[in-house]
Amino acid sequence: MISAEPKNFNLTEAVEKDKQLINDYLDKYLEIRYPEPIWEAMRYTALSFGKRLRAILTLESARICGGNIDAALPTACALEMLHAQSLIHDDLPCMDDDDYRRGKPSNHRVYGEATAVLAGDALLAYAPQVIINYTPESVNRQALLQVIEEFLKAAGPMGIVGGQVVDILSENKAISKQEFDYILAHKTGELFKFALRAGALISEAPKEKLDGLTAYGEKLGYAFQVADDILDVEGTLQELGKTPGKDSETGKNTYISIYGLEKSKQELENLTRKACEILGENDINSPLLVGIAGYIAGKVKK
Ligand code: IPE
Ligand code: IPE
Ligand code: MG
Ligand code: MG
Ligand code: MG
Repeated sequence: MISAEPKNFNLTEAVEKDKQLINDYLDKYLEIRYPEPIWEAMRYTALSFGKRLRAILTLESARICGGNIDAALPTACALEMLHAQSLIHDDLPCMDDDDYRRGKPSNHRVYGEATAVLAGDALLAYAPQVIINYTPESVNRQALLQVIEEFLKAAGPMGIVGGQVVDILSENKAISKQEFDYILAHKTGELFKFALRAGALISEAPKEKLDGLTAYGEKLGYAFQVADDILDVEGTLQELGKTPGKDSETGKNTYISIYGLEKSKQELENLTRKACEILGENDINSPLLVGIAGYIAGKVKK
């Protein structure tokens, strides 16, 4: 079990406050310009209902490391744009072929496949521009260069693209534990890891703190995908905002297909507990990070 939140801390309130800020900035950065149809399609997914979890992690990481939120907001929003891109492309008929996302028809169902592909491309290319153009001058440029490098790594063949391609090519195939771990760590883990590292880098955190947040991010990202795999089996369209049962339909390798439902639930508990232990071991005092680990564990029925 995850330890209880401190008495004076309200996770829902803290998360909602960050979420509002992130939504306001996303709205501003994604203002509609010419040619309007592409900005509309970008906004459709990026601004629709989503937890904004990765962006919240970036803001919290910056706070923990003594940085200010204004310095981290452009990167947090860029990460949300990258995440939205990954969702748009993940749903395409040539990928997971999913008709619903965030409680609405998926991007290609509204705008058509060509515009959906381009909206993903546009979000991916525009996101680093947001980091470069909107991060305040007060942020160390060397640190910002590292953030941009790590952002691009997380987005590309060493990150989410690497994970997604192995995920797709492994459909209906038995794969090794190593290959499966690679899929989870890359298609999902890389963005969580980047979320935590980015806030710390922008705040010029000492190496020990950066390492602690990185280790927490890796565990949390893995746990997040295990929870997502469980919810694909147990959730409803209404609860998830996306079609359940897709993983078995498309022959995906998931934690459940390999280890079974019960072991998946145990592992989710273990991973989220370990994520919190990592925080303790590294003197990272963050009720929000503890709360988010608990939230991920709690998304799934015991
Ligand atoms: C969905 O992520 C994609 C996965 C990595 C499983 P989220 O569940 O964080 O999606 P949103 O942002 O809340 O829609
Ligand atoms: C999650 O993969 C990683 C992404 C890049 C979206 P999934 O295919 O399991 O994500 P969902 O279930 O469609 O959100
Ligand atoms: Mg997928
Ligand atoms: Mg999918
Ligand atoms: Mg899934």
